[in-house]
Amino acid sequence: MNPKGLFNLFRTQQYRNWISLSGLVVATASFFAFLFLFVIDIIAHHGNPYMGILAYIVSPFFLGLGFVLIYLGGWLHRRQLRKGQAATTFQIDLSRARDRKTLVAFVAGALTFLLVTAFGSYNTYHYTESVNFCGQTCHTPMNPEYTAYLNSSHARVACAECHVGPGATWYVKSKINGVHQLYCTATDTFQRPIKTPVKNLRPAQETCEQCHWPQKFIGNLDRTFSHFLADETNTPFTVRLLLKVGGADPAHGPAGGIHWHMNVANKVEYITTDDQHQIIPWVRTTSKEGVVTEYKDPKFKDDLAKHTIRRMDCMDCHNRPAHDYRSPNDAVDLAMTLGNIDSKLPWAKSNVVASLIAPYSTEDEAVGKISTTLRKVYPKYEKIDSLVAAAQDIYKHNFFPEMKVAWSAYPNNIGHKNWAGCFRCHDGQHQTADGKKKIEASNCNACHVIVAQGNGEQLEKLNPKGYNFFHLDGEMNDFSCNGCHTGAFTK
Ligand code: HEC
Ligand code: HEC
Ligand code: HEC
Ligand code: HEC
Ligand code: HEC
Ligand code: HEC
Repeated sequence: MNPKGLFNLFRTQQYRNWISLSGLVVATASFFAFLFLFVIDIIAHHGNPYMGILAYIVSPFFLGLGFVLIYLGGWLHRRQLRKGQAATTFQIDLSRARDRKTLVAFVAGALTFLLVTAFGSYNTYHYTESVNFCGQTCHTPMNPEYTAYLNSSHARVACAECHVGPGATWYVKSKINGVHQLYCTATDTFQRPIKTPVKNLRPAQETCEQCHWPQKFIGNLDRTFSHFLADETNTPFTVRLLLKVGGADPAHGPAGGIHWHMNVANKVEYITTDDQHQIIPWVRTTSKEGVVTEYKDPKFKDDLAKHTIRRMDCMDCHNRPAHDYRSPNDAVDLAMTLGNIDSKLPWAKSNVVASLIAPYSTEDEAVGKISTTLRKVYPKYEKIDSLVAAAQDIYKHNFFPEMKVAWSAYPNNIGHKNWAGCFRCHDGQHQTADGKKKIEASNCNACHVIVAQGNGEQLEKLNPKGYNFFHLDGEMNDFSCNGCHTGAFTK
């Protein structure tokens, strides 16, 4: 090449051919696409992991391709000369009508190409940010999260709002992670199920708190949990709770209740000893005045320095805000409450749950076998089609055998029935070194009062002071709920 570089390139005879010229157009277009993506990348409100792939891999690839074309044209030209053939260079002579036409056609073609590239890279950029891209393009690995997300209260929040966002360091991390994910999907080496906690999910201050104001005072929430037992009559068993969610900022209401942990006035830190953050043997609180209190489970004898101290945030309780897979018990309870499954049908709760939890290796297999199983159990039931459809529907929304995903794959930390949840700390065991102080709020009425319980008329007798929890045939007030409750009771 002429040492004076690109500008002199087309003075050189050998590059004056259509292949080299097209190469120049491709190179120019991808250079502009790169510049464009690079600028968005720097100024964008929040980054996007796939931008990195576009800006630093795809557009340089086309830039390279452009150069290859330029040289290819030159090389072919030299070869033709060497072989003594008439080389296909061109001399543009604007006085010739044919040359004028060719030039106009070429310039028009080149401009269109540039426009299409600019438009295309802009749209690709938007597409990689969209929920469709995250949820559907890499269908198999993300299908469970996407399906659950569409059923969550965050179905209108883009994946990127929680998974990618402002903040330079997280941005770089998520970008590297995006490349890694694409690689894993392409090579089919992704984990099944995908592991949580997600290591590079940004802290709640940068995600949840962009929309939810931690100072907000919520107060008491009235929640009704409707269940049916796994017995012959599917006995209804309803618990109505007044949850003391409260608030964390005295400027907006009494600071206290469940949202006391929100780090507005005080800091809660902890360590975990397992991957899924289910065992929390040590907790430390620091009040606004600087009073530090350490609580420990007496069984924990390990050296504290070996563990990472984490600061509690929204996601230590709300860890499934967008991807909650319902347990088969809860899903069937809901279908019965809504009337999609008839609660008068003997043993319906138990049988449907059993059909859902049998081992299946694909969704198609499950859907087929759920139908055969239930038809065998209820050969004479006239509404069998709707029963089968309701069971299959629950399966499709909550079980993903291809990814080994179901409720049991991901702990949900918001309560304490199927998972330890709040009882990871509030189990009455964690205490100060002198044993004088335990984590307060480790009794049944600290977080909620049971205002009504049972079924039928019992539910109309509200008790503002709260009932003791009446469990099957006795009072129950210990912390072992998840020792029995796995989310899949059958008879
Ligand atoms: C409201 C915030 C929010 C939105 C919106 C959201 N996610 Fe998540 N996502 C989370 C949280 C929180 C976790 C779990 C973090 C943990 O337990 O460490 C998670 C976990 C995941 C995981 C890891 C596997 C798992 O199930 O825990 C994947 C994959 C995922 N999300 C993909 C998506 C996709 C795809 C979308 C859009 C269709 C999306 N997310 C939308 C908050 C969100
Ligand atoms: C882009 C804004 C946005 C972000 C980011 C966001 N949320 Fe939400 N969240 C909402 C909206 C809007 C609703 C109300 C939805 C409705 O009522 O239909 C909501 C509802 C909720 C609810 C109440 C409904 C329920 O499911 O119990 C909780 C809890 C919640 N969000 C927690 C979180 C957590 C935790 C995070 C961070 C991982 C988060 N949100 C991130 C917008 C957001
Ligand atoms: C100690 C655990 C815990 C922490 C930490 C926590 N929450 Fe909650 N939050 C709860 C519980 C329990 C409820 C009651 C609702 C439920 O059971 O789903 C709740 C309810 C909510 C609601 C629903 C209110 C409604 O009207 O339905 C929102 C929104 C919410 N929290 C947001 C947040 C945000 C944002 C953060 C972080 C700044 C946060 N929470 C931190 C436990 C917690
Ligand atoms: C990481 C450990 C940890 C987890 C998990 C946890 N808490 Fe706490 N919680 C604490 C500590 C520590 C205190 C302060 C206790 C004290 O002051 O004695 C506290 C205090 C409380 C209080 C009393 C607040 C006040 O008004 O003083 C309530 C209510 C509460 N927690 C509810 C919950 C609920 C509900 C959950 C589950 C959704 C939960 N906590 C999960 C550690 C935890
Ligand atoms: C640290 C706070 C805390 C303590 C202590 C606590 N609970 Fe709860 N409990 C919760 C929260 C939060 C929920 C709501 C979970 C949800 O939103 O899914 C709940 C839900 C429940 C439910 C309804 C569950 C369902 O799915 O039907 C029952 C019943 C219950 N608690 C009983 C008890 C009993 C009995 C005790 C005493 C041994 C107790 N709780 C102690 C926080 C607590
Ligand atoms: C010794 C085992 C055991 C322990 C511990 C236990 N349960 Fe249960 N619980 C059961 C059984 C068995 C049933 C009946 C299930 C059925 O027939 O569907 C049941 C039923 C329930 C139901 C109604 C049906 C359902 O599936 O939701 C609730 C709500 C409940 N238990 C809450 C709790 C709570 C909260 C705790 C902890 C305070 C707890 N249980 C501790 C064994 C236990």
